[in-house]
Amino acid sequence: MMNDWAGLPATYGDVLRRAMDSLFRTFENFSEGTFIVDAEARVVWINKRYAARFGFSDPQQAIGRDCEAVIPNSLMREVVKTGKPILLDILETDREPLVVTRLPLKDDAGNTVGAVGFALFDELKALTPLFSHYSRVQQELIATRQSLAQARRAKYTFGSFVGTSAASLEVKRQARRAAQLESPVLLLGETGTGKELLAHAIHGGSARANQPLVTVNVAAIPDTLLEVEFFGAAPGAYTGADRKGRVGKFELANGGTLFLDEIGDMPLPLQGKLLRVLQDKEFEPLGSNRIVRADVRIIAATSADLPALVAAGRFRADLFYRLNVLTIQAPPLRERVSDIEALAYAMLEDLSTQARGGNHFELQDDALRLLCSYGWPGNVRELRNTLERAVMLSDSERIDARALAPLLGMAHGAGVGVGISTGAGTASTIAASTTPAGAAEPASWSDAMAAFEKRFLSDALRANGGRVIDAAAQIGMGRATLYKKIAAYGIEA
Ligand SMILES: Nc1ncnc2c1ncn2[C@@H]1O[C@H](COP(=O)(O)OP(=O)(O)O)[C@@H](O)[C@H]1O
Ligand SMILES: [Mg+2]
Repeated sequence: MMNDWAGLPATYGDVLRRAMDSLFRTFENFSEGTFIVDAEARVVWINKRYAARFGFSDPQQAIGRDCEAVIPNSLMREVVKTGKPILLDILETDREPLVVTRLPLKDDAGNTVGAVGFALFDELKALTPLFSHYSRVQQELIATRQSLAQARRAKYTFGSFVGTSAASLEVKRQARRAAQLESPVLLLGETGTGKELLAHAIHGGSARANQPLVTVNVAAIPDTLLEVEFFGAAPGAYTGADRKGRVGKFELANGGTLFLDEIGDMPLPLQGKLLRVLQDKEFEPLGSNRIVRADVRIIAATSADLPALVAAGRFRADLFYRLNVLTIQAPPLRERVSDIEALAYAMLEDLSTQARGGNHFELQDDALRLLCSYGWPGNVRELRNTLERAVMLSDSERIDARALAPLLGMAHGAGVGVGISTGAGTASTIAASTTPAGAAEPASWSDAMAAFEKRFLSDALRANGGRVIDAAAQIGMGRATLYKKIAAYGIEA
């Protein structure tokens, strides 16, 4: 640095002083703000405009204060500490950001005695394109963070868990208690009993509610990808399509809750790793030499019989005991029949706002009796799917047993409803023939659909006295199509 001045005449000290002086003046005049601190980063001087911008009507009020107390986010302390300039930087303020330059001030011995900062924003219009780019990127980042936070917030609260049967009240009581505690939660119960809903509610009711809730559906991810999904990977650490590296769900959930759905499907080696993370509260992403500390609360759920899996050696006993602290058993729907009416109406309400705006669907008494006598192997999810279909297929806002009966069992996927006859039989005999216990060999999906369609079309024809034209109009199907299907299915009008 000093070499650059070496060729100057003996008066160079004067030139240097003038250069510094005029530089300072130029910056001072043309910058948005100028600001000097001492070696302790306390304000020595600040110009009026700059002081005013940060809420000091009189610059004197700022003198002697710590720089951060005058200019939040100021990095002048770093400059006096390191003695190194920050030539160009962006300072966030509560108004628009400023482009700033920070230079250390040295004494003759080269010791840092303070620093001077200039805010250049207004006069450096050349920076505008850079700025608009920066602000756009910044805006996008903020929006992305917000939507991510939104997505990770709990979807359901305890209020979303409909049901006042003794069994449901007990489940809600246990879940509320679990929300107050920090230990792992294990949610057991058949598919569709509301385990995921409860996991959301527990997180949402816990002290971690404002932190992320991150879900991993163990059953939905191939075994080979699970480890990376959980713990992440350093860039280039594995030969997946994605070589950029990946942040694992454990790290994403830090401070919050990790919901491990279908944990019974977790491969044994990964169970061991999970157990270690739960014990040590830290882990190493694949191929990195980085230790990540994770403060994560675990909520695990499974529809599998975990003790049986433990007995069979397919689930680690030590992991099971670790998770089996606050265990909540979500009862199957058939054991809380008294909830069905409230559930059905809550769902119909939901479906009517979603699908056909304004329609209010009503269940006829026989429909309700039918719902209450059915076995619901798919539990609340199946109830919802069944009602969804009923709403879609129904011409009227009144849903009766006749409209519902053909749909029972279809929404569970196993096709157990096939083969029942809609016209005949009381609700209870229909239900008996559709519970899984009484189910015949499950048909394929296409067989089930064909059987349903045949029955549906026969019913429509019968209801219209065998008149194809009227039946076609009623069900909203083209006449030619209906004729073709009548022939294909061999339906006798
Ligand atoms: N008690 C309940 N009240 C209202 N909706 C429920 C209830 N239980 C389950 N559901 C609904 O049923 C469906 C399946 O629930 P989910 O929590 O995914 O079950 P699981 O995780 O046990 O398979 C979801 O649409 C959920 O909102
Ligand atoms: Mg589930």
